[in-house]
Amino acid sequence: MAKLGYPFTLGVASGEPLPSGVILWTRLAPEPLHSDPDRPGGMPERPVEVQWQVAADEAFTRIVRHGTKWATADDAHSVRVRVDGLHNATDYYYRFLVTGPFAAANSPVTSPVGRTRTAPGPMSTDPLTFGLVSCQRYEHGFYPALRHLAAERPDVVFHVGDYIYEYGKPANPRPGRYMRPLTGGAAECKTLHAYRNRYALYRMDPDLQAAHAAAPWVPTWDDHEVRDNYRGGLPGDGSDPAAFMRRRTDAYQAYFEHMPLRAAPAEEALQIYRRCSYGEVADFMVLDVRQYRSDTSMLGAAQEEWLLSRLRGTMARWSVLVQPLFFAKRVIPGRDPGARSDAWDGYPAFRDRLIAARPRGLVVLSGDVHDHWAAEIKADFADPASPAVGVEFVGTSVTSKPPETDVPAVLAANPHLKFHDGRRGYVMGKVSMDSFEVSHRVVESTDSRESPVSTAATFGVEDGRLVRKDKPGTPAV
Ligand SMILES: [Fe+2]
Repeated sequence: MAKLGYPFTLGVASGEPLPSGVILWTRLAPEPLHSDPDRPGGMPERPVEVQWQVAADEAFTRIVRHGTKWATADDAHSVRVRVDGLHNATDYYYRFLVTGPFAAANSPVTSPVGRTRTAPGPMSTDPLTFGLVSCQRYEHGFYPALRHLAAERPDVVFHVGDYIYEYGKPANPRPGRYMRPLTGGAAECKTLHAYRNRYALYRMDPDLQAAHAAAPWVPTWDDHEVRDNYRGGLPGDGSDPAAFMRRRTDAYQAYFEHMPLRAAPAEEALQIYRRCSYGEVADFMVLDVRQYRSDTSMLGAAQEEWLLSRLRGTMARWSVLVQPLFFAKRVIPGRDPGARSDAWDGYPAFRDRLIAARPRGLVVLSGDVHDHWAAEIKADFADPASPAVGVEFVGTSVTSKPPETDVPAVLAANPHLKFHDGRRGYVMGKVSMDSFEVSHRVVESTDSRESPVSTAATFGVEDGRLVRKDKPGTPAV
Protein backbone atom coordinates (compact mmCIF):
# COMPACT_ATOMS: atom_id res chain seq x y z
CA MET A 1 0.00 0.00 0.00
CA ALA A 2 1.24 3.50 -0.87
CA LYS A 3 2.46 5.55 2.02
CA LEU A 4 0.10 8.27 3.24
CA GLY A 5 1.11 11.93 3.51
CA TYR A 6 2.06 13.84 6.65
CA PRO A 7 -0.77 13.12 9.15
CA PHE A 8 -0.49 16.04 11.62
CA THR A 9 -1.89 18.71 9.29
CA LEU A 10 -4.37 19.89 11.96
CA GLY A 11 -1.77 20.41 14.70
CA VAL A 12 -2.05 19.39 18.33
CA ALA A 13 -4.02 20.66 21.31
CA SER A 14 -4.45 20.21 25.03
CA GLY A 15 -7.26 21.09 27.39
CA GLU A 16 -9.28 20.63 30.56
CA PRO A 17 -6.39 21.20 33.00
CA LEU A 18 -6.59 19.53 36.41
CA PRO A 19 -3.89 19.69 39.11
CA SER A 20 -2.71 16.22 38.08
CA GLY A 21 -3.31 16.11 34.35
CA VAL A 22 -4.64 17.38 31.04
CA ILE A 23 -6.27 16.05 27.88
CA LEU A 24 -4.06 15.86 24.78
CA TRP A 25 -5.55 15.94 21.29
CA THR A 26 -4.62 15.32 17.70
CA ARG A 27 -6.26 13.98 14.55
CA LEU A 28 -4.62 12.09 11.71
CA ALA A 29 -5.57 13.80 8.44
CA PRO A 30 -3.05 13.43 5.61
CA GLU A 31 -5.62 14.99 3.22
CA PRO A 32 -7.62 17.14 5.66
CA LEU A 33 -10.30 18.25 3.18
CA HIS A 34 -10.78 14.88 1.46
CA SER A 35 -14.13 14.87 -0.38
CA ASP A 36 -15.05 11.21 0.28
CA PRO A 37 -17.29 10.94 3.39
CA ASP A 38 -16.00 7.40 3.92
CA ARG A 39 -12.41 8.60 4.08
CA PRO A 40 -12.43 11.71 6.31
CA GLY A 41 -9.03 13.34 6.34
CA GLY A 42 -7.93 10.97 3.59
CA MET A 43 -7.48 8.13 6.09
CA PRO A 44 -8.08 4.44 5.36
CA GLU A 45 -10.80 2.83 7.47
CA ARG A 46 -8.53 0.78 9.69
CA PRO A 47 -7.39 1.87 13.18
CA VAL A 48 -3.93 3.39 13.58
CA GLU A 49 -1.86 3.26 16.75
CA VAL A 50 -0.61 6.67 17.90
CA GLN A 51 2.19 7.14 20.43
CA TRP A 52 2.13 10.13 22.77
CA GLN A 53 4.83 11.63 24.96
CA VAL A 54 4.78 14.25 27.72
CA ALA A 55 8.08 15.83 28.72
CA ALA A 56 9.31 18.32 31.28
CA ASP A 57 11.38 20.08 28.61
CA GLU A 58 10.79 21.21 25.06
CA ALA A 59 13.63 19.03 23.71
CA PHE A 60 12.02 15.87 25.19
CA THR A 61 15.15 14.84 27.08
CA ARG A 62 13.02 14.26 30.21
CA ILE A 63 9.92 12.31 29.15
CA VAL A 64 7.67 11.92 32.20
CA ARG A 65 4.64 10.13 30.69
CA HIS A 66 4.11 8.21 27.46
CA GLY A 67 1.75 5.66 25.98
CA THR A 68 -0.25 4.66 22.94
CA LYS A 69 -3.81 5.21 21.81
CA TRP A 70 -5.80 3.83 18.84
CA ALA A 71 -7.14 6.37 16.37
CA THR A 72 -10.25 4.89 14.73
CA ALA A 73 -12.47 5.78 11.78
CA ASP A 74 -15.48 6.15 14.12
CA ASP A 75 -13.96 9.36 15.46
CA ALA A 76 -12.33 10.45 12.17
CA HIS A 77 -8.97 9.19 13.50
CA SER A 78 -8.92 11.80 16.25
CA VAL A 79 -7.47 10.90 19.65
CA ARG A 80 -7.88 12.32 23.12
CA VAL A 81 -5.42 11.16 25.76
CA ARG A 82 -6.15 11.54 29.47
CA VAL A 83 -2.76 12.21 31.00
CA ASP A 84 -2.56 11.82 34.77
CA GLY A 85 0.14 11.78 37.45
CA LEU A 86 1.58 15.20 36.59
CA HIS A 87 2.70 17.93 39.01
CA ASN A 88 0.30 20.80 39.57
CA ALA A 89 0.87 24.33 38.20
CA THR A 90 3.63 23.04 35.95
CA ASP A 91 4.49 23.52 32.27
CA TYR A 92 4.77 20.38 30.13
CA TYR A 93 5.47 19.68 26.47
CA TYR A 94 3.76 16.98 24.44
CA ARG A 95 3.85 15.41 20.97
CA PHE A 96 2.50 12.45 19.03
CA LEU A 97 4.28 9.90 16.82
CA VAL A 98 2.94 7.43 14.25
CA THR A 99 4.48 4.78 12.07
CA GLY A 100 2.19 2.31 10.29
CA PRO A 101 0.99 3.61 6.95
CA PHE A 102 2.94 6.85 7.22
CA ALA A 103 6.58 5.80 7.30
CA ALA A 104 9.01 2.93 7.74
CA ALA A 105 8.61 1.11 11.06
CA ASN A 106 11.80 2.47 12.56
CA SER A 107 11.31 6.11 11.54
CA PRO A 108 8.11 7.46 13.02
CA VAL A 109 6.48 10.69 11.87
CA THR A 110 6.44 13.25 14.69
CA SER A 111 3.81 15.92 15.34
CA PRO A 112 4.49 19.53 16.24
CA VAL A 113 5.21 20.07 19.95
CA GLY A 114 2.56 21.62 22.17
CA ARG A 115 3.01 23.36 25.50
CA THR A 116 0.47 22.80 28.22
CA ARG A 117 0.13 23.59 31.90
CA THR A 118 -1.62 21.83 34.75
CA ALA A 119 -3.95 23.64 37.14
CA PRO A 120 -2.72 24.47 40.65
CA GLY A 121 -3.63 22.39 43.68
CA PRO A 122 -6.88 23.05 45.59
CA MET A 123 -5.20 25.17 48.31
CA SER A 124 -3.15 27.30 45.93
CA THR A 125 -3.32 31.08 46.21
CA ASP A 126 -0.98 31.69 43.26
CA PRO A 127 -2.12 34.11 40.54
CA LEU A 128 -3.09 32.90 37.08
CA THR A 129 -3.53 34.26 33.58
CA PHE A 130 -6.23 33.40 31.06
CA GLY A 131 -7.22 34.24 27.51
CA LEU A 132 -10.81 34.64 26.29
CA VAL A 133 -11.74 34.25 22.62
CA SER A 134 -14.85 33.70 20.52
CA CYS A 135 -16.36 34.05 17.05
CA GLN A 136 -13.63 33.21 14.56
CA ARG A 137 -15.52 33.16 11.27
CA TYR A 138 -12.97 31.90 8.76
CA GLU A 139 -14.29 33.72 5.70
CA HIS A 140 -14.11 37.05 7.52
CA GLY A 141 -10.35 37.21 7.81
CA PHE A 142 -7.09 36.02 9.29
CA TYR A 143 -6.33 35.25 12.92
CA PRO A 144 -3.71 37.79 14.12
CA ALA A 145 -5.67 37.84 17.41
CA LEU A 146 -4.91 34.15 17.96
CA ARG A 147 -1.31 34.65 16.90
CA HIS A 148 -0.81 37.29 19.61
CA LEU A 149 -2.77 35.26 22.17
CA ALA A 150 -0.40 32.34 21.53
CA ALA A 151 2.61 34.59 22.14
CA GLU A 152 1.23 35.54 25.57
CA ARG A 153 1.17 31.87 26.65
CA PRO A 154 -1.66 32.21 29.19
CA ASP A 155 -2.18 29.47 31.78
CA VAL A 156 -5.52 28.60 30.16
CA VAL A 157 -7.67 29.75 27.22
CA PHE A 158 -11.46 29.88 27.30
CA HIS A 159 -13.27 29.76 23.97
CA VAL A 160 -16.89 30.83 24.34
CA GLY A 161 -18.29 29.71 21.06
CA ASP A 162 -18.72 30.18 17.34
CA TYR A 163 -15.51 28.21 16.94
CA ILE A 164 -16.76 27.43 13.43
CA TYR A 165 -19.62 28.92 11.43
CA GLU A 166 -21.85 26.44 9.63
CA TYR A 167 -22.83 28.90 6.89
CA GLY A 168 -22.14 28.23 3.24
CA LYS A 169 -20.67 30.78 0.87
CA PRO A 170 -23.27 33.51 0.39
CA ALA A 171 -24.57 33.94 -3.17
CA ASN A 172 -23.53 37.59 -3.07
CA PRO A 173 -20.96 38.13 -0.32
CA ARG A 174 -20.94 41.65 1.07
CA PRO A 175 -17.78 43.59 0.22
CA GLY A 176 -14.91 42.78 2.58
CA ARG A 177 -16.71 39.82 4.16
CA TYR A 178 -15.40 36.91 2.12
CA MET A 179 -11.68 37.26 2.64
CA ARG A 180 -10.89 33.53 2.66
CA PRO A 181 -12.66 30.86 0.59
CA LEU A 182 -14.48 27.96 2.27
CA THR A 183 -12.51 25.14 0.67
CA GLY A 184 -13.44 21.56 1.55
CA GLY A 185 -17.15 22.33 1.17
CA ALA A 186 -18.62 25.78 0.51
CA ALA A 187 -22.23 24.77 1.24
CA GLU A 188 -23.93 25.11 4.65
CA CYS A 189 -22.83 22.26 6.96
CA LYS A 190 -25.60 19.72 7.46
CA THR A 191 -23.79 16.36 7.53
CA LEU A 192 -21.08 14.83 9.69
CA HIS A 193 -18.67 14.96 6.76
CA ALA A 194 -19.40 18.63 6.10
CA TYR A 195 -18.87 19.57 9.76
CA ARG A 196 -15.65 17.51 9.87
CA ASN A 197 -14.27 19.30 6.85
CA ARG A 198 -15.26 22.69 8.23
CA TYR A 199 -13.34 22.02 11.46
CA ALA A 200 -10.43 20.74 9.40
CA LEU A 201 -10.38 23.91 7.32
CA TYR A 202 -10.28 26.09 10.46
CA ARG A 203 -7.66 23.88 12.11
CA MET A 204 -5.36 24.12 9.09
CA ASP A 205 -4.91 27.79 9.97
CA PRO A 206 -1.39 28.21 11.43
CA ASP A 207 -2.42 30.85 13.99
CA LEU A 208 -5.30 28.78 15.35
CA GLN A 209 -2.88 25.85 15.59
CA ALA A 210 -0.38 28.07 17.41
CA ALA A 211 -2.99 29.18 19.94
CA HIS A 212 -3.92 25.56 20.67
CA ALA A 213 -0.26 24.55 20.94
CA ALA A 214 0.51 27.41 23.36
CA ALA A 215 -1.87 26.63 26.24
CA PRO A 216 -4.59 24.25 27.42
CA TRP A 217 -8.06 25.25 26.21
CA VAL A 218 -11.42 24.94 27.92
CA PRO A 219 -14.00 25.48 25.19
CA THR A 220 -17.75 25.82 25.23
CA TRP A 221 -20.03 26.30 22.24
CA ASP A 222 -22.63 28.78 21.07
CA ASP A 223 -25.04 28.26 18.17
CA HIS A 224 -22.88 28.23 15.03
CA GLU A 225 -21.17 24.97 15.96
CA VAL A 226 -24.53 23.52 14.88
CA ARG A 227 -26.92 26.05 13.36
CA ASP A 228 -27.71 29.74 13.71
CA ASN A 229 -30.02 30.38 16.69
CA TYR A 230 -30.92 26.77 17.50
CA ARG A 231 -32.45 26.08 20.92
CA GLY A 232 -32.15 22.67 22.51
CA GLY A 233 -33.71 20.18 20.10
CA LEU A 234 -35.31 22.84 17.91
CA PRO A 235 -33.65 24.22 14.79
CA GLY A 236 -35.10 27.70 15.27
CA ASP A 237 -36.63 27.96 11.80
CA GLY A 238 -39.68 25.74 12.33
CA SER A 239 -38.25 22.85 10.27
CA ASP A 240 -38.53 19.15 11.24
CA PRO A 241 -37.13 18.59 14.78
CA ALA A 242 -36.23 14.92 14.12
CA ALA A 243 -34.08 15.86 11.13
CA PHE A 244 -32.53 18.64 13.19
CA MET A 245 -31.64 16.22 16.02
CA ARG A 246 -29.74 14.04 13.55
CA ARG A 247 -27.90 17.11 12.31
CA ARG A 248 -27.19 18.28 15.87
CA THR A 249 -25.85 14.84 16.82
CA ASP A 250 -23.48 14.96 13.82
CA ALA A 251 -22.38 18.48 14.71
CA TYR A 252 -21.71 17.48 18.34
CA GLN A 253 -19.72 14.45 17.14
CA ALA A 254 -17.56 16.68 14.91
CA TYR A 255 -17.06 19.12 17.81
CA PHE A 256 -15.97 16.25 20.04
CA GLU A 257 -13.56 14.99 17.37
CA HIS A 258 -11.78 18.36 17.20
CA MET A 259 -11.62 19.47 20.84
CA PRO A 260 -9.47 18.34 23.77
CA LEU A 261 -12.53 17.37 25.85
CA ARG A 262 -12.88 15.06 28.84
CA ALA A 263 -16.53 14.44 27.96
CA ALA A 264 -17.68 12.15 25.15
CA PRO A 265 -20.99 12.04 23.26
CA ALA A 266 -23.69 9.76 24.70
CA GLU A 267 -26.57 9.14 22.33
CA GLU A 268 -27.72 12.60 21.24
CA ALA A 269 -26.04 14.48 24.09
CA LEU A 270 -22.59 15.85 24.86
CA GLN A 271 -22.34 17.23 28.38
CA ILE A 272 -19.86 20.10 28.33
CA TYR A 273 -20.92 22.28 31.26
CA ARG A 274 -18.27 21.88 33.91
CA ARG A 275 -16.17 23.57 36.57
CA CYS A 276 -12.53 24.49 36.06
CA SER A 277 -10.80 25.24 39.38
CA TYR A 278 -7.71 27.36 39.99
CA GLY A 279 -7.08 26.73 43.66
CA GLU A 280 -8.56 29.22 46.11
CA VAL A 281 -8.25 31.98 43.51
CA ALA A 282 -10.92 31.24 40.91
CA ASP A 283 -13.69 28.80 40.08
CA PHE A 284 -14.55 29.01 36.39
CA MET A 285 -18.06 27.71 35.75
CA VAL A 286 -18.20 26.87 32.05
CA LEU A 287 -21.79 26.87 30.82
CA ASP A 288 -23.74 25.36 27.91
CA VAL A 289 -26.36 27.88 26.79
CA ARG A 290 -27.62 25.84 23.80
CA GLN A 291 -28.14 22.13 24.38
CA TYR A 292 -30.78 22.35 27.15
CA ARG A 293 -32.40 25.61 26.09
CA SER A 294 -36.15 26.09 26.01
CA ASP A 295 -38.51 29.05 25.99
CA THR A 296 -38.41 29.15 29.76
CA SER A 297 -34.82 28.21 30.57
CA MET A 298 -31.45 29.15 29.13
CA LEU A 299 -29.60 26.30 30.87
CA GLY A 300 -32.20 23.64 31.65
CA ALA A 301 -33.20 22.67 35.19
CA ALA A 302 -30.29 20.32 35.91
CA GLN A 303 -27.58 22.79 34.84
CA GLU A 304 -29.32 25.65 36.71
CA GLU A 305 -29.33 23.66 39.93
CA TRP A 306 -25.73 22.53 39.41
CA LEU A 307 -24.64 26.13 38.86
CA LEU A 308 -26.48 27.59 41.85
CA SER A 309 -25.24 24.90 44.22
CA ARG A 310 -21.65 25.30 42.99
CA LEU A 311 -21.86 29.07 43.39
CA ARG A 312 -23.23 28.73 46.92
CA GLY A 313 -20.56 26.23 47.89
CA THR A 314 -17.48 27.79 46.33
CA MET A 315 -14.52 28.68 48.55
CA ALA A 316 -12.74 30.56 45.76
CA ARG A 317 -12.09 34.30 45.84
CA TRP A 318 -13.64 34.76 42.36
CA SER A 319 -16.71 33.01 40.90
CA VAL A 320 -16.38 33.28 37.14
CA LEU A 321 -19.12 32.36 34.68
CA VAL A 322 -17.68 31.42 31.28
CA GLN A 323 -20.34 31.39 28.54
CA PRO A 324 -21.20 33.08 25.25
CA LEU A 325 -24.13 35.38 25.83
CA PHE A 326 -24.45 38.98 27.03
CA PHE A 327 -25.35 38.69 30.72
CA ALA A 328 -25.98 42.27 31.86
CA LYS A 329 -29.16 44.04 30.87
CA ARG A 330 -28.73 45.73 27.51
CA VAL A 331 -31.54 47.94 26.35
CA ILE A 332 -31.15 48.71 22.66
CA PRO A 333 -33.01 51.93 21.83
CA GLY A 334 -35.51 51.40 19.05
CA ARG A 335 -35.85 47.68 19.71
CA ASP A 336 -38.91 46.25 21.45
CA PRO A 337 -37.74 45.54 25.04
CA GLY A 338 -40.27 42.69 25.27
CA ALA A 339 -38.81 40.84 22.26
CA ARG A 340 -37.07 37.60 23.17
CA SER A 341 -33.39 38.29 22.77
CA ASP A 342 -30.55 35.81 22.26
CA ALA A 343 -29.02 36.98 25.53
CA TRP A 344 -29.74 36.75 29.24
CA ASP A 345 -32.28 39.58 28.81
CA GLY A 346 -34.50 36.84 27.36
CA TYR A 347 -34.26 34.87 30.64
CA PRO A 348 -34.41 37.50 33.41
CA ALA A 349 -35.97 35.22 36.04
CA PHE A 350 -32.96 32.91 36.34
CA ARG A 351 -30.56 35.85 36.02
CA ASP A 352 -32.33 37.45 39.01
CA ARG A 353 -32.05 34.18 40.99
CA LEU A 354 -28.38 33.93 40.21
CA ILE A 355 -27.68 37.54 41.20
CA ALA A 356 -29.78 37.14 44.36
CA ALA A 357 -27.52 34.21 45.38
CA ARG A 358 -24.74 36.86 45.62
CA PRO A 359 -21.88 34.68 44.31
CA ARG A 360 -18.53 35.53 45.84
CA GLY A 361 -16.52 37.82 43.53
CA LEU A 362 -18.89 37.43 40.59
CA VAL A 363 -17.31 37.91 37.16
CA VAL A 364 -18.98 36.94 33.89
CA LEU A 365 -16.92 36.31 30.74
CA SER A 366 -18.85 36.31 27.47
CA GLY A 367 -18.65 36.84 23.71
CA ASP A 368 -21.20 36.49 20.90
CA VAL A 369 -21.76 40.17 20.04
CA HIS A 370 -18.46 40.68 18.14
CA ASP A 371 -17.38 43.81 20.06
CA HIS A 372 -15.63 44.42 23.36
CA TRP A 373 -17.86 45.57 26.21
CA ALA A 374 -17.43 45.88 29.96
CA ALA A 375 -20.37 46.11 32.34
CA GLU A 376 -21.30 46.27 35.98
CA ILE A 377 -23.89 43.74 37.11
CA LYS A 378 -26.48 45.46 39.27
CA ALA A 379 -28.36 43.91 42.16
CA ASP A 380 -31.46 45.29 40.40
CA PHE A 381 -31.06 46.42 36.81
CA ALA A 382 -34.38 48.29 37.04
CA ASP A 383 -32.92 50.59 39.70
CA PRO A 384 -29.88 52.62 38.56
CA ALA A 385 -29.09 53.40 42.21
CA SER A 386 -28.81 49.75 43.23
CA PRO A 387 -25.31 48.46 44.02
CA ALA A 388 -23.02 46.68 41.57
CA VAL A 389 -22.59 43.06 42.67
CA GLY A 390 -20.24 41.87 39.95
CA VAL A 391 -18.78 42.67 36.55
CA GLU A 392 -18.95 41.34 33.01
CA PHE A 393 -16.23 41.37 30.37
CA VAL A 394 -17.50 40.73 26.87
CA GLY A 395 -14.67 39.66 24.59
CA THR A 396 -14.78 40.83 20.99
CA SER A 397 -14.64 38.46 18.00
CA VAL A 398 -11.43 37.03 16.59
CA THR A 399 -12.66 37.82 13.05
CA SER A 400 -16.47 37.84 12.82
CA LYS A 401 -17.83 41.18 11.63
CA PRO A 402 -19.92 43.06 14.21
CA PRO A 403 -23.51 44.13 13.66
CA GLU A 404 -24.33 47.80 13.21
CA THR A 405 -24.83 49.25 16.69
CA ASP A 406 -25.60 52.82 17.74
CA VAL A 407 -23.01 52.63 20.50
CA PRO A 408 -23.51 56.10 22.06
CA ALA A 409 -27.26 55.43 22.29
CA VAL A 410 -26.71 51.99 23.89
CA LEU A 411 -24.22 53.40 26.41
CA ALA A 412 -26.61 56.25 27.26
CA ALA A 413 -29.54 53.88 27.75
CA ASN A 414 -27.51 51.49 29.95
CA PRO A 415 -25.44 53.43 32.49
CA HIS A 416 -24.02 50.16 33.87
CA LEU A 417 -22.29 49.52 30.51
CA LYS A 418 -18.92 51.22 30.98
CA PHE A 419 -16.86 50.43 27.92
CA HIS A 420 -17.11 49.53 24.25
CA ASP A 421 -14.54 48.96 21.52
CA GLY A 422 -15.54 47.91 18.02
CA ARG A 423 -12.31 46.26 16.87
CA ARG A 424 -11.43 42.54 16.59
CA GLY A 425 -9.18 40.90 19.20
CA TYR A 426 -9.34 38.97 22.46
CA VAL A 427 -9.26 39.39 26.23
CA MET A 428 -6.36 38.67 28.57
CA GLY A 429 -7.00 38.23 32.28
CA LYS A 430 -4.71 38.26 35.33
CA VAL A 431 -6.31 36.93 38.49
CA SER A 432 -5.03 36.82 42.06
CA MET A 433 -6.45 36.77 45.58
CA ASP A 434 -6.34 40.59 45.52
CA SER A 435 -7.24 41.51 41.97
CA PHE A 436 -9.07 40.58 38.80
CA GLU A 437 -7.50 42.51 35.94
CA VAL A 438 -8.71 42.30 32.35
CA SER A 439 -7.17 43.82 29.21
CA HIS A 440 -9.22 44.20 26.05
CA ARG A 441 -6.71 43.55 23.26
CA VAL A 442 -7.40 44.75 19.71
CA VAL A 443 -5.74 44.04 16.37
CA GLU A 444 -5.42 46.66 13.68
CA SER A 445 -6.96 44.51 10.93
CA THR A 446 -7.90 40.95 10.09
CA ASP A 447 -6.74 41.40 6.48
CA SER A 448 -3.24 40.23 7.43
CA ARG A 449 -1.79 37.53 9.67
CA GLU A 450 0.87 39.99 10.83
CA SER A 451 -1.43 42.78 12.00
CA PRO A 452 -0.13 44.32 15.25
CA VAL A 453 -1.97 44.19 18.57
CA SER A 454 -2.59 46.86 21.19
CA THR A 455 -4.57 47.24 24.41
CA ALA A 456 -7.79 49.24 24.17
CA ALA A 457 -8.42 49.29 27.93
CA THR A 458 -7.47 47.55 31.16
CA PHE A 459 -9.93 47.19 34.03
CA GLY A 460 -9.71 46.00 37.59
CA VAL A 461 -12.57 44.99 39.87
CA GLU A 462 -13.15 46.59 43.26
CA ASP A 463 -16.20 45.67 45.36
CA GLY A 464 -18.13 44.58 42.31
CA ARG A 465 -17.28 47.76 40.39
CA LEU A 466 -15.10 48.33 37.34
CA VAL A 467 -11.99 50.45 37.83
CA ARG A 468 -10.03 51.65 34.84
CA LYS A 469 -6.39 50.67 35.33
CA ASP A 470 -4.60 51.98 32.26
CA LYS A 471 -5.72 55.58 32.86
CA PRO A 472 -5.79 55.69 36.66
CA GLY A 473 -8.09 58.26 38.14
CA THR A 474 -10.30 58.60 35.08
CA PRO A 475 -13.89 57.42 35.08
CA ALA A 476 -14.52 53.99 33.60
CA VAL A 477 -16.12 55.31 30.40
FE1 LIG B 1 -20.45 34.88 16.56
